[in-house]
Amino acid sequence: MKLDNNVAAVVTGGASGLGAATARALAAKGVKVAIFDLQKEKGEAVAAEIGGVFCEVNVTSDESVDAGFAKARAAHGQERVLVNCAGTGNAVKTASRAKEDGSIRHFPLEAFNWVIQINLVGTFRCIAKSAAGMLTLEPQEDGERGAIVNTASVAAEDGQIGQAAYSASKGGVVGMTLPIARDLMGEGIRVNTILPGIFDTPLLAAAPQPVKDALAASVPFPKRLGRPEEYANLALCMIETGYFNGEDVRLDGGIRMAPR
Ligand SMILES: NC(=O)c1ccc[n+]([C@@H]2O[C@H](COP(=O)([O-])OP(=O)(O)OC[C@H]3O[C@@H](n4cnc5c(N)ncnc54)[C@H](O)[C@@H]3O)[C@@H](O)[C@H]2O)c1
Repeated sequence: MKLDNNVAAVVTGGASGLGAATARALAAKGVKVAIFDLQKEKGEAVAAEIGGVFCEVNVTSDESVDAGFAKARAAHGQERVLVNCAGTGNAVKTASRAKEDGSIRHFPLEAFNWVIQINLVGTFRCIAKSAAGMLTLEPQEDGERGAIVNTASVAAEDGQIGQAAYSASKGGVVGMTLPIARDLMGEGIRVNTILPGIFDTPLLAAAPQPVKDALAASVPFPKRLGRPEEYANLALCMIETGYFNGEDVRLDGGIRMAPR
């Protein structure tokens, strides 16, 4: 797909981190970008910087996502590009003993479901509603109507201790990539997923420097955290390269996560 000012895009999670970097990279090509995020202040700031539009959206809500697409399409027209970066995580062991008193507990189901609802169901909700809109577009070169990029994680394949919910949600995103690409192949919409390793985003900002240094040292090569612009580069490559479809790609400096 040729990215220029004839193209509109929606980036979920675009107020921060990987999504913000992708929103900036798309806008640098002239693309009209709408940001879907919970974080109003940060989202509005990124939108203002790139001349885009901010939509306060919670990806777990049908009404909220519908209202977001309505606002984005009123401003820019039907999007040809969707990048799903909205996501979150938690860390709880499936079952464990408390250090203090040896009492036994398990992963609370509402906490498990919360991550699944945002990362997996939220991603699918945005894909389904965006693809339905893309079906109304005129096909371009090769009959292409749209391109979708999702964000999983290397935790989809090598999840660590405490990551049952996060890994399940991201494994779900990886698992649905090919069937969704197949669902949409007759309509000229491509779907790909990126599995980031350890990236330097606000998600990690709270971690103390020694922890960040240890994480960087654990990457085979290069020995540093991933840069959000590197994620954005791959997302744009997937969108611009017409033969890229139904694929899940790790972007991780060669890392394979240890149990902890
Ligand atoms: N940073 C990493 O190392 C890393 C590694 C692997 C995967 N990922 C994934 O990449 C994606 C982006 O992460 P990031 O590192 O940029 O984190 P981030 O926290 O900087 O950005 C995530 C954004 O998603 C938004 N969001 C969360 N829940 C939402 C909801 N219900 N509705 C709408 N927006 C919501 C947040 O407000 C935030 O702006 C996530 O899916 C994350 O799981 C990140």
